[in-house]
Amino acid sequence: MSKIYPSAARPARLYESVCDDILKRIDRGEWSERGKLPSIRELAQELGVHRLTVFKAYQLLKQSGKAYVKDKSGYYINTGALPSDQTATPAIHSHIQQNPLSDIQRVPVVYQFSQALLDPNLLPNQYLSAYVKQAFDLYPKVLGTYAPVQGDEELREAMAEYLAAEHHLALTPGELLITSGAQQALDLLAKTLLKPRDIVLVDRPTYGAAMDIFRSYGAQLAAVDIHPHGYDLEQVARLMKERKPRFFYLNPTFHNPTGYTVSAEQRKRLVELAAEHRCLLVEDDPFHDIYFKQPPPPPLFTYDTEGYVAYIRSFSKYIAPGLRIAAVAARPPVIGNLLTAKSLADNGTPLLNQKIFLLLFFSDRMQRHLEKLRIALHVRMNIMEEALSGTGLSWSKPAGGLNLWVKLPDGIKAGTLLAKGIEQSLTFVPGTICDPLTELDDRIRLSYSYANEIQLHEGARLLAGLLRSLA
Ligand SMILES: Cc1ncc(COP(=O)(O)O)c(C=O)c1O
Repeated sequence: MSKIYPSAARPARLYESVCDDILKRIDRGEWSERGKLPSIRELAQELGVHRLTVFKAYQLLKQSGKAYVKDKSGYYINTGALPSDQTATPAIHSHIQQNPLSDIQRVPVVYQFSQALLDPNLLPNQYLSAYVKQAFDLYPKVLGTYAPVQGDEELREAMAEYLAAEHHLALTPGELLITSGAQQALDLLAKTLLKPRDIVLVDRPTYGAAMDIFRSYGAQLAAVDIHPHGYDLEQVARLMKERKPRFFYLNPTFHNPTGYTVSAEQRKRLVELAAEHRCLLVEDDPFHDIYFKQPPPPPLFTYDTEGYVAYIRSFSKYIAPGLRIAAVAARPPVIGNLLTAKSLADNGTPLLNQKIFLLLFFSDRMQRHLEKLRIALHVRMNIMEEALSGTGLSWSKPAGGLNLWVKLPDGIKAGTLLAKGIEQSLTFVPGTICDPLTELDDRIRLSYSYANEIQLHEGARLLAGLLRSLA
């Protein structure tokens, strides 16, 4: 069984030492006969520590997948095998079972403001089958073989050329990995970079699923506040220096959930800070092309000359989301480790999806379509903004992306509003889900990309009525 390593960054806290001690005893085979760990009270007595300390140690074991809880029966060693009663004691970590965002998104509602996804009607659907056919015509054996683990060579060559030209940077196909969406890229990065109890810096607020991934590898999150114009760089420098994070996960372009964009000056400085404190930046960039007027500043990756940025460019938000294609650009050794993890995860993203994406994304039609898409999303954002004006809600106008990050009027809580909304067939994302400290219950994320124009009008009016009823 692998160990929870003491962090080199700071001395272990008592519950962390207790956790290490328990792991050693598990390794030695104590308790293995019944698989059950002593009760919190028994172990606290034995070790002469407070029960809370043992409780926290058990929580840490649970987070890192080394133990699991059986209802009312106690903590058990996770041997990797499924427990006998699978329904009562699922083998996956309890916090993964709770995915409040997907729970909300699964509620079937008319006014769907919780999905930061494209309305499928905004894609050139009538032409898509032609690209699928073309993929089979050009590559008749496409279903007869696996893709290279790193990604289709033709796609990586085209993508390296595209990113290099778009952002004026040097990038080879060997420094790219094709993944099944940014979600997989984040998972692979976390898997290759994190040990339990490592510190990860995340924006506050941030993309909830990323936090769930990092936590599932036992990471502890430290929050960096993000503001309409970016970061307090002194806070970033201080956190990098004091907490020695393994990496800083950031989404600096039309940030989810706020829509904020970090300036070029701050991007440069962030890369300098990363090199100074030897802290990798994991730059998640799924909305880069979804700007309304001006293209955003170049990615942080552009400013990096020393390999301190891993850049995830997902296309699954706006180029046939069903294909689930993203590219990760990273320098050695990060790219090599990712490649190993990718081979273990799925041995390569389906070749058919990559070939269809190649034909679709680099076609003139799709590039022209992108221009229309920007206009359509801008119109939808304006509709939502107009319909919400005068409701007591406030927000910073985003220059791109799919969401409004909205402050509720004083005294109204996101959870209460959501409960009322669901009764009226309307959902959104409460701010707490996006907050590493789970405190922001006076904020909500409203996505304007999935609902159509009529639903946006009606839903925003409905929301205004709900706010009045709660005032
Ligand atoms: C910031 C951010 N990163 C990553 C993802 C996941 O992207 P993909 O669909 O490519 O897995 C999302 C999806 O909402 C996102 O908002």
